[in-house]
Amino acid sequence: IKTIGVLTSGGDAPGMNAAIRAVVRTGIYHGFKMLGIRKGYNGLVTGDIFDMSARDVSDIIHRGGTILQTARCKAFTTDEGMQKAMSISKAFGMDALVVIGGDGSYRGARDFSKFGMKVMGLPGTIDNDIASSEYTIGYDTAMNTVQDALDKIRDTAYSHERCSVLEVMGRRAGHIALNVGIAGGAEVILLPEREFDFDKDIIRKIIQGRNSGKKNYIIILAEGVAEKIGGALELAKKIEDLTGIETRGTVLGYIQRGGSPTIQDRVMASVMGAKAVTLLKDGVFNRIISVKDSKVVDIDIDEALAMKKDIDNELLELSNILSI
Ligand code: F6P
Repeated sequence: IKTIGVLTSGGDAPGMNAAIRAVVRTGIYHGFKMLGIRKGYNGLVTGDIFDMSARDVSDIIHRGGTILQTARCKAFTTDEGMQKAMSISKAFGMDALVVIGGDGSYRGARDFSKFGMKVMGLPGTIDNDIASSEYTIGYDTAMNTVQDALDKIRDTAYSHERCSVLEVMGRRAGHIALNVGIAGGAEVILLPEREFDFDKDIIRKIIQGRNSGKKNYIIILAEGVAEKIGGALELAKKIEDLTGIETRGTVLGYIQRGGSPTIQDRVMASVMGAKAVTLLKDGVFNRIISVKDSKVVDIDIDEALAMKKDIDNELLELSNILSI
């Protein structure tokens, strides 16, 4: 391997820049030529590729988003698109590719490896929904953003003796919702991974709380559930109609995807980014960098994609106990 490319793909996540910086600088340190690819796999298909020096990643470690920009690329899902990307990669002399993104991006990388590219995956998504890894770059920052919002919502819910429904991101995974729900003392946490009963799990919980002297209530609604039952505003209205308690809904939206990464995200991104390149230097490829038992490890890409991840059941049970 002489030349390594790096791209970010799928939804952006705070800490992606720290990961790009670590990949580029570790690569240059070991004598590789480094290439940046813009807008995810799109850049590979269109040739939006440029040489990266150590200075190209200066002053980005603290910035949210991704300087390489990102996209979900349709063309890359076809054999034809991948052939084209392979020809373009060859034209640039690129023999290995580091992909920073989520499961969808890994599937693209795995398929691309069948065309001869040596790939490495780095977990980058706020959702923490990558099965092979306990942790993903951006997750900690997103949770802190939601926590900050929730604390503010709690202030006003207290003042007005209201119930507040907060809709948070997580189309397929409730990790943000669950952790922030625990940390913010939510009465009810609704996750895409779990069924729930509106009357029993929401209305009864609120009324029982009121009967025991509660004056305000927090309901966390993960995006994946909102897509099925209606959003935060709709749920707030239903709760108010049934309980008579004034209820307000808030949808946090894309604020959760931006912002300066936390220390944890910066450090994890730096460690993982460096590991991806060090492995390539040692001739190891087609792996996913992951966290397992709190250690940074690498896992075969096919194995990683076959894994499943669930939310932490004990934490969910705990949230029920602590919110009586
Ligand atoms: O990055 C993860 C995520 O925020 C999911 O929770 C959400 O479903 C998705 O991205 C939405 O992203 P977009 O609108 O960019 O497709």
